[in-house]
Amino acid sequence: MKTILQQLDIGDLSLNNRVAMAPVTRSRSGDDGVPTATNAEYYKQRASAGLIISEATNISPMSAAFELAPGLYNDSQVNGWKLVSEAVHSVGGRIFAQLWHSGRVSSYALLEGKEPISPSGMNEDIHALQVYGAMRNGYYTRMAASPSRAMSVEEIYGVIHEFRVGARNALRAGLDGVEIHAANGYLPQQFLSPHVNRRTDQFGGSIENRARFLRLVLEAVMETFPACRIGVRISPFALYNNALDPDPVTTYCHVTRLLNEYGIGYVHGADTNAWGGAPDMDRIIQLIRTNYHGIFIANGGLSPEQAHALVDGGQADMVAFGRQYIANPDLVERIASNGPYNIPDAFTFYGGGARGYTDYPRLDAEYQRVA
Ligand SMILES: Cc1cc2nc3c(=O)[nH]c(=O)nc-3n(C[C@H](O)[C@H](O)[C@H](O)COP(=O)(O)O)c2cc1C
Repeated sequence: MKTILQQLDIGDLSLNNRVAMAPVTRSRSGDDGVPTATNAEYYKQRASAGLIISEATNISPMSAAFELAPGLYNDSQVNGWKLVSEAVHSVGGRIFAQLWHSGRVSSYALLEGKEPISPSGMNEDIHALQVYGAMRNGYYTRMAASPSRAMSVEEIYGVIHEFRVGARNALRAGLDGVEIHAANGYLPQQFLSPHVNRRTDQFGGSIENRARFLRLVLEAVMETFPACRIGVRISPFALYNNALDPDPVTTYCHVTRLLNEYGIGYVHGADTNAWGGAPDMDRIIQLIRTNYHGIFIANGGLSPEQAHALVDGGQADMVAFGRQYIANPDLVERIASNGPYNIPDAFTFYGGGARGYTDYPRLDAEYQRVA
């Protein structure tokens, strides 16, 4: 599996290999979304990845789909992220922050009684939205989403500004770049989806209008980071959070051409339906490779062998692993030695402490134990 272990340049950033850590929410931040020393330790353990993409990080107090997720909108959070970036850099790693606004995927209970915001207040399918909170005993559970209300144009520009500030804060925190979370049915994808976005103004209707929000977010973030330090995550065919599109190919041809014109660092294609056993990776590759000519990171249900084949065959430049990275802090070293791999424990994915977070063993520790 040599190719996936080979070096890769994203713009001016030189990555040690083509194995990325996918963004995975772990819901273990400190109070007020401030990353802790334990969070820094977790990321440091995984820093042999060519690139770590952080867990989804709220750019606004109005973004709250998962309780105890980190934020990047105040100074305490910036200081918390500094711990993380310094820990990762101290061992030669690279880390981008995934900038997140969950839009309608939220609840009064996580927003201090406020209504979640969305492109047009369409609530007929809120049962499909995935909102999670911690119970008093520390366990994590799915909760009901609350009906959202339509954003005014002024509010839309306000959220675009929150992305701008999020990028500034990522730079202040010493992070290497940012990934705009435009996948999995969160706010940017809500704007792209004609099912969710029923606006009739400049932010709804035609694909140019539905893509305006993402375009303006990108331009706002580019005021801080050069295009090559910005990635965008998309999931064109995802059913998650019901950001449906009757014609995803047309929508995402437009989106990926736009990303190509801006010359961003990478496009991250999340095959979200693969989690449910219905992979779309071939369609995603076809769509992205046809319209976007920069670095393509593939993710979703891929084994190290499949990942290697994709990079070796030129279908992808890099592959991101989610669940494998939760369970294998030294995934790169394990790939280099053809495994074995720890099995992820889904029960400890969200919330809780060190168990299932910083206590997965490394291969060298395993060998020492056996010897
Ligand atoms: C526990 C968990 C948390 C996740 N959190 C995020 C997230 O914060 N942002 C995101 O874009 N995707 C998130 N995902 C999706 C992963 O990035 C990835 O797409 C998914 O796990 C499939 O890849 P895999 O088969 O390599 O695990 C999450 C997935 C899991 C299992």
